Amino acid sequence: MTAVLTGEKLAIHGGKKAVPDGLIRKWPPIDDLDRKMVLASLEGATHSFGPNCEKFQEEFAAWNGNRYAVTTNSGTAALHMALVACDCGAGDEVIVPAYTWSSSATCVMQHNCIPVFVDIDFDTMNIAVEKIEAAVTPKTRAIIVVHLHGLAVAMDKVLELAKRHNLKVIEDCCQAHGAKYRDRKVGTWGDCAAFSFNQNKCLCSGEGGMFVTDREEMLQKARSLWSFGETRTPSEKRDYHVYAMGWMYRNNDLTAAFGRAQLTRLDSYLRIQRENARLLTECLADVPDLILPREPEGHEHNWYNYTLRFAMDRLGHAQDAPAFRDKIVRALQAEGVQTGVWQAFMLPAMTVFQAKNGYGQGCPWSCPHARPVDYSVEQFPAAQRHCETHTGMTTPLRAPNGPEAVRATAAGIRKVLENLDQLEAVK
Ligand SMILES: Cc1ncc(COP(=O)(O)O)c(C=O)c1O
Repeated sequence: MTAVLTGEKLAIHGGKKAVPDGLIRKWPPIDDLDRKMVLASLEGATHSFGPNCEKFQEEFAAWNGNRYAVTTNSGTAALHMALVACDCGAGDEVIVPAYTWSSSATCVMQHNCIPVFVDIDFDTMNIAVEKIEAAVTPKTRAIIVVHLHGLAVAMDKVLELAKRHNLKVIEDCCQAHGAKYRDRKVGTWGDCAAFSFNQNKCLCSGEGGMFVTDREEMLQKARSLWSFGETRTPSEKRDYHVYAMGWMYRNNDLTAAFGRAQLTRLDSYLRIQRENARLLTECLADVPDLILPREPEGHEHNWYNYTLRFAMDRLGHAQDAPAFRDKIVRALQAEGVQTGVWQAFMLPAMTVFQAKNGYGQGCPWSCPHARPVDYSVEQFPAAQRHCETHTGMTTPLRAPNGPEAVRATAAGIRKVLENLDQLEAVK
């Protein structure tokens, strides 16, 4: 039985918090293996790309089911490498979802290519696969699919379309470690993929990332910009000659040691996350005016981010949805619910795209190889509705948190949603 909390004084008005201070434990859990491996690296002789980096590549490739992996200093670096692996060059268009993390699209401009946005599907929050084809032009070279919040995109449909139009497929798996579509892990469907290991990610090494592929020629191309364009592995002898346009995207040994230690527990972290998400969904199923995230048939979510949306039309707040959402979020936070608004803007609405000025003088859009593109936001109604109505959470569902943290979080959400009348007085 779920308690009805109508009439209870909200914490934002001085009532008792639903989630007691200190109940939600921080992410990620640190144990003796983390300490041992990081300290051993510290005592070692190589602090740049070292033995832990080599091992991290092998172990991550084995965990995910890829032939090759290259460890990087960020997920964004791995995405940029993916563009190069796919032969994307000046003026080429790359299809990207209108709602995602900024660098799913800015990585495209980093290689002088042009992002072309496609609206999301409101239900899954991922790219609307059926709308991709209309965005394909003779200039299109690749599609970046983002498995947002840890829910895989329906990859069979994307691959079929990519094959018909001779396009490469890059998977942005930065939020989606271990997520599956039709029993197959993300990062094994497309031509190549990028993972992130930053603070919030399901595999955290502080900062860092991984480029993965099964294709040797893609590995070589990606590596060509990874280490100053020197086209060699760090274990090979240097000839200090730059063969290609290069960046410095290598990882370092301390970070890789931390990542390796965390990787030994990744499967158990993901199991806990899935159990917590299942329980949260069960606890919130009958809360009014709440749109819960779904796990469609054939998908295995990793629940990186449990995203709630509010039915603003039913609540009578269709016209002032973002302001009312912000009030709800402030009330939730006052209850101790660890939620926040991750990204309130769709990408095409962001200044860099509206101004079309990446490198100055209109580049890369003013490049003679580029075709004009339209970033007017009216083309993306589902992304807009999502931006105005969502809030999300990560830590309460992460290990070592369990049923107690989840039930308290659910109680806080229920309390606010059943007492929305009390929000009218909130500024
Ligand atoms: C979907 C997505 N793509 C790319 C990135 C970039 O990863 P990083 O912060 O490691 O560069 C992130 C995370 O920040 C992300 O969530």
